[in-house]
Amino acid sequence: MKKLAILGSGFGSNFEAVARYLKDVEIICISDKPDAYILKRAEYLNIPALVLTLDEMEKYFSENKFDLVALAGFMRIIPENILSKMGRCINLHPSILPAFKGKDAIKQAYLYGVKVTGITIHEVTPELDSGRIIAQYPVIINDSMHYDELEETIHRVEHIIYPQVIEKLLNNAPVEYGVSFGNCGGRGKCEGKCKECGGGCEG
Ligand code: GAR
Repeated sequence: MKKLAILGSGFGSNFEAVARYLKDVEIICISDKPDAYILKRAEYLNIPALVLTLDEMEKYFSENKFDLVALAGFMRIIPENILSKMGRCINLHPSILPAFKGKDAIKQAYLYGVKVTGITIHEVTPELDSGRIIAQYPVIINDSMHYDELEETIHRVEHIIYPQVIEKLLNNAPVEYGVSFGNCGGRGKCEGKCKECGGGCEG
């Protein structure tokens, strides 16, 4: 069985989306924050979880090997000495990189006034939100769109795209533009239940 480590520091909604989507994958949740909500999610999803400081991660990843390490709201720079022990490590970022790196990327894009933003999945390097891009998905910002609506749309897109990309990487399948929203076209009418999004509605 493939092994996946998901690292997060916060709310953990992407961790939950990935965990619910993947089948027959051994998942472990790792957080650097003992009070992070991601740990509660791991508990109710019955997924093993660990709290490790960044320093403790070097030893942990030297002794425990994974097919993939996926960051999901892990808000720390991972230095090279730890990255080299992790194997392949990817990150999800809520903008079209290289635009709007760092914290509050959705807000940065909104306030800048861009008309297209989106999400990026990329290889992790010791440099903030850098590394080769694996997949991106755009989100259009209409003139009438409020910030809350943009934030909600970005998160919905993340929850649909990240699990599919992780599954493809675990299976060594090409990622191309190759992820799909199914019939709902990503507008959320299916609430994540389109065939391709995991359910079966006609959207
Ligand atoms: C996600 O929007 C993710 O793209 C972002 O943190 C959020 C985590 O949400 N990551 C970054 O900004 C990385 N630079 P979650 O904890 O609910 O999955």
